[in-house]
Amino acid sequence: MNMKKISIISLAVTLLMVLAVSCSDVKRTPGKDYMPDMRYSRAYETYSASPIFRDGQTNREPVAGTVKRGDVYPFHLTKDAAGDTANYYASRAVKSPLPAMNETEMKEAERLYLINCAICHGPKLDGNGPLWNGGDGPFPAKPATLVGDAKYENMPEGQMYYSTTYGKNLMGSYASQLQPKERWMVITYIKSKQKPAAAVVAAAAAAAATATDTTAAAKK
Ligand code: HEC
Repeated sequence: MNMKKISIISLAVTLLMVLAVSCSDVKRTPGKDYMPDMRYSRAYETYSASPIFRDGQTNREPVAGTVKRGDVYPFHLTKDAAGDTANYYASRAVKSPLPAMNETEMKEAERLYLINCAICHGPKLDGNGPLWNGGDGPFPAKPATLVGDAKYENMPEGQMYYSTTYGKNLMGSYASQLQPKERWMVITYIKSKQKPAAAVVAAAAAAAATATDTTAAAKK
């Protein structure tokens, strides 16, 4: 027998042995569990039934006032009733929890405004969007003139947030369309559009003051 034959035979024998072992019908014992309390959770599984809670569910809602990681500081005022209520006026004192927005965030806020609000309040925030269209549109109520009406120019951001969250007369709530952060972003955008008018006045006053100063300096 040469070496080649020997190796072929020994390979065949090995294969046969492997086959014989793997095809055994001897019932194997289950493996040992190492730390079974880690393998099988002792806590209730998320969607399993729970005998502890009245609704029978293990899944719980977050406790009221819970702040999700990365979420903005919650708005604590609830809608106490429809109309100009105590909480509607209390909202005047609430400040936006957002830090100053950069250009990208402002662009995103503008996009959200154009999608959700401009149809009524107008892309120019003049209260004349296509749904109102100077009274010829299908919407029955005149949307607030966010830019150009002192009432809304002076409206504190918190109160705008209240109305955007809970609705105001014929304007519905935007709580299900926009996240709290997005609502604040849209309001910051509206406020940024309102400011320029005041800023223009301030700039004009400053220019006038400089002009006076120059004259004063020239006179000296
Ligand atoms: C379907 C039309 C419509 C859309 C869309 C709409 N609004 Fe209004 N909005 C109105 C009307 C109408 C009023 C005037 C309500 C009143 O005082 O009777 C109003 C009033 C307001 C006011 C003043 C609230 C107050 O307290 O007087 C703010 C602020 C405002 N809207 C913001 C928004 C923002 C922000 C959006 C988008 C997220 C939006 N609106 C989308 C119709 C709309």
